[in-house]
Amino acid sequence: MRLEVDITGKRFRSAAGGTQEVLAPVSFALQSGEVGVLIGPSGCGKSTMLRIILGLDRDFEGRISRPPEARIGMVFQEPRLLPWRSVEQNVRLAAPDVTDAKLAELFRILELDAHRSHFPGELSLGLARRVALARAFAVEPDLLVLDEPLASLDDALAGRLRDEIATLVARRPVMTLLVTHSLDDAIRLGDRLFLLSPRPARIVREVPIAIPRAGRSEAELGRIRAELAALQLESK
Ligand SMILES: Nc1ncnc2c1ncn2[C@@H]1O[C@H](COP(=O)(O)OP(=O)(O)OP(=O)(O)O)[C@@H](O)[C@H]1O
Ligand SMILES: [Mg+2]
Repeated sequence: MRLEVDITGKRFRSAAGGTQEVLAPVSFALQSGEVGVLIGPSGCGKSTMLRIILGLDRDFEGRISRPPEARIGMVFQEPRLLPWRSVEQNVRLAAPDVTDAKLAELFRILELDAHRSHFPGELSLGLARRVALARAFAVEPDLLVLDEPLASLDDALAGRLRDEIATLVARRPVMTLLVTHSLDDAIRLGDRLFLLSPRPARIVREVPIAIPRAGRSEAELGRIRAELAALQLESK
């Protein structure tokens, strides 16, 4: 499967009647098995781009080509759970075919066992994000779109969940698009990093990481991190 993004522009009209340009021309493609990472300043248009890619916002110029049969798993920047449904129901509603065994595995990995019957209003933001991740994984997605999924989690848990995302991505051929402000998440998970400009977002630089995810040693990661820091300084 292949996702092709070819956005030529996106504007929002303000209530006062003005318009704000949010996306400049942006184009890239993702293959199954690839993780693309979008990195850019707050407000540059990342979440807007994801909504366009998912087909949730059709008011843009350009074209998105996504296999119509692709199953989509999405973690929004705000967890967006159904407030009147329990944690378990939230996951089951999104993934009606999920088996009990799969659900149990996801709840164990995401450390949600004790919260199955809780309602979203009873969860901390970090817990709610984990439920949103469980929901996205339960779908067994072909296209996985993650908008800052590890924000507001402590470092240890974020590290474990990052490994889980890597495992999931290795297990099935999935096209993954991740938005993060964490360079560490980007270089541990990404195959291709897209560095974005301030609004209106355009791709300033594409950084491929040739070493397979599982083979990246701490030394390699350090080298990539330094290279990236230099590029970000250069593009400022
Ligand atoms: N529905 C909307 N109507 C009008 N303007 C909007 C709307 N949604 C977003 N914007 C504006 O578009 C710009 C980009 O917003 P977006 O949420 O895509 O940024 P972002 O890169 O995801 O930022 P962050 O890293 O803070 O999540 C912002 O200036 C925002 O105010
Ligand atoms: Mg955002």
